[in-house]
Amino acid sequence: KLLNDDDKAVISGFWGKASSRAAEIGADALGRMLVVYPQTKTYFDHWKDKSPSSHNVRKHGKKIMDAIGDAITLMGDLNNALLELSQLHAFTLRVDPSNFKMLSHNILVVMANYFPDDFTPDVHLAMDKFLAAVARALSERYR
Ligand code: HEM
Repeated sequence: KLLNDDDKAVISGFWGKASSRAAEIGADALGRMLVVYPQTKTYFDHWKDKSPSSHNVRKHGKKIMDAIGDAITLMGDLNNALLELSQLHAFTLRVDPSNFKMLSHNILVVMANYFPDDFTPDVHLAMDKFLAAVARALSERYR
């Protein structure tokens, strides 16, 4: 088990507050990933504009965080919760799983920025574990 009961409580508690800014968090994290790790841009070559303020980045950032929010409500069964998204990333999009770490890192950076007081070391630890579990579940279908 990657997440214990304490982690789950901390994650739910923090998300109770952070979810109000989910779309912004997702857009800023995605926008940052594309700047800080430019190699990730290759997957989004079909987007004309990949800049942080672009329509594509804002819209897709919201999709990502909606999926994260769903995953938080289904924390106990992440592999099942993320099965379809794993299929999509593995077979259709062919995203190298090492890239999940880049997005996770940027999600943490943005959360810490938005909620400096709430983002305690305990929240940092629990969210880091959760995002690692998400990355693990998203890699489930890779063969
Ligand atoms: C599409 C979630 C990481 C590349 C999507 C979609 C979701 C999603 C919800 C939309 C699926 C649909 O439209 O049915 C996530 C989550 C991630 C993650 C939760 C990790 C926490 C990544 C990473 C990359 C990536 C690291 C590449 C560096 C893509 C691409 C698409 C996509 C290229 C299709 C975009 C388009 O509509 O043109 N992802 N993703 N994803 N994802 Fe991810």
